Amino acid sequence: MSAFTPTEEQQVVIDILLNSQRLKVVAGAGAGKTETLKQCATRLASKKVLYTAFNRDIVKAGSGKFPKNTNCFTSHKLAYDAVAKPYVNRLNESGRMPWRVKAEVLGITEGVKITRSQFLGAGTLAGLVSEGVENFCRGSEAEIDWHHLPKIDGLHKSQNYQLRTMLLPYAKRYWEDLRRTDAQGGGRMPFTPNHFRKIWQLGEPILPYDVVLLDEAQDTAEVFMDVVRRQSAQTVLIGDTAQSVNEWAGATNAIEHFNAPELRLTRSFRFGVEVAEEGNKWLSLLRTDMRITGTGHSRVGDVPNPTAVLTRTNGEAVRQLMLAQDAGLRVGLAGGKARTEITQLCRAADDLKRGKGTWVKALMAFTYWDELQQYAEDEARDLLPFVRMVDTCGTDTIRSALKNLVTVDRADRVISTAHVSKGLEFRRVKIGEDFTEPVDEHGSPIDPTTQDIKLAYVAVTRAMQELELGGLAWINDRLPGRARGNPVLPTSDSAGR
Ligand SMILES: Nc1ncnc2c1ncn2[C@@H]1O[C@H](COP(=O)(O)OP(=O)(O)O)[C@@H](O)[C@H]1O
Ligand SMILES: [Mg+2]
Repeated sequence: MSAFTPTEEQQVVIDILLNSQRLKVVAGAGAGKTETLKQCATRLASKKVLYTAFNRDIVKAGSGKFPKNTNCFTSHKLAYDAVAKPYVNRLNESGRMPWRVKAEVLGITEGVKITRSQFLGAGTLAGLVSEGVENFCRGSEAEIDWHHLPKIDGLHKSQNYQLRTMLLPYAKRYWEDLRRTDAQGGGRMPFTPNHFRKIWQLGEPILPYDVVLLDEAQDTAEVFMDVVRRQSAQTVLIGDTAQSVNEWAGATNAIEHFNAPELRLTRSFRFGVEVAEEGNKWLSLLRTDMRITGTGHSRVGDVPNPTAVLTRTNGEAVRQLMLAQDAGLRVGLAGGKARTEITQLCRAADDLKRGKGTWVKALMAFTYWDELQQYAEDEARDLLPFVRMVDTCGTDTIRSALKNLVTVDRADRVISTAHVSKGLEFRRVKIGEDFTEPVDEHGSPIDPTTQDIKLAYVAVTRAMQELELGGLAWINDRLPGRARGNPVLPTSDSAGR
């Protein structure tokens, strides 16, 4: 039995699910999605239920909460149980293989020159091929193709195309190697969970369940959505389409494309009506009539002592964490990936300052620091905050700030990029300064992209009690009736890529 009385909307979801084959539920931030699914599972006591999500942490958080008739499994676990057997020798052996050796196995014998001064070695090329195979494994397509291979920032479109088509035969070879079963002599490339999930999806599996509950469905990659779509079991997708901010290859907005009647959960238990209103400003810019309501009150205004600062870029995250450390606070950085990326950027900055190019993938196309400075000014504005931090305080200072971080649970203040903050909540949130108003080259306001709107929505809806808009305050000049220029209207092609 649940401790809560379901809201009217939650009750409708529970009642309708009992009698419908397919259903999708679009929910606001903190609207009790998992709680509602749990109550659905409880009502379906005589059925065999699967609770799943694309993200392992979500499934982990859910397991233990659900009744006995429900298995809480990730897509990787489902795939492993179904397809691992013919590959068991290799799974036991799979370990690290140096890139140089991978290149040899793939038959990449030499490197290529990509710019006048930049040369990619065979091992680096094997790394790009491997990334291409990973991208392919997140999608639903049957064949690997050139567009699965990664682009290198700073190279022209035609140069990237040339490089990607050049690498395609090696990616095909990689995939063939992975598919070779033990009985066929086995392949040599190490296996990852994504590889066998892809093999599983291509076999068009039928899941042995009466009901499939897919949580946080907006983040489900196509490889798993393809499996879910094929099921004849009763299927519920629940999630928040306004929070689909992960843009990696293979991810599509699974909920929007799922053909089923739509219900909504609009009341949030995370925050009060004032924060809900901030969320609604951004929802009004999306092509949706979805709006959220809060529970009780929260405050929007200055937040002098935030428990979290949410930034758009790693560069602003670095600035904010140094500011907080200077103020004597114990500071945590959310998400291991942010720390790795910042460390890599520092390394790349050092390499480029020595004029030696860098093998840090995002910046491979550059040789000198001033080339990168220019590129950040002209094209990659999200790199600019980091470039400025390096120019003002140097990479050693940034590294020592990283060393002084504490774990998030012991921190007085958590710094997080908005991307990483998805799924988290904080009592007092301040938005970083790098969410600047979108303008054209003459400084005139332009519409934010769909991705930017969604990211802003995620950021403001992390706050439980207090919210300071920081770099997002410009939204108040743009709303109809208070227009500085034209009110922002979403356009069909504003989906940012
Ligand atoms: N009907 C309800 N009444 C009171 N509190 C609720 C209700 N539904 C959910 N909650 C609470 O709201 C919070 C968020 O619920 P959860 O299911 O984790 O949300 P989500 O999965 O959408 O993030 C939890 O603390 C949960 O116990
Ligand atoms: Mg949940």
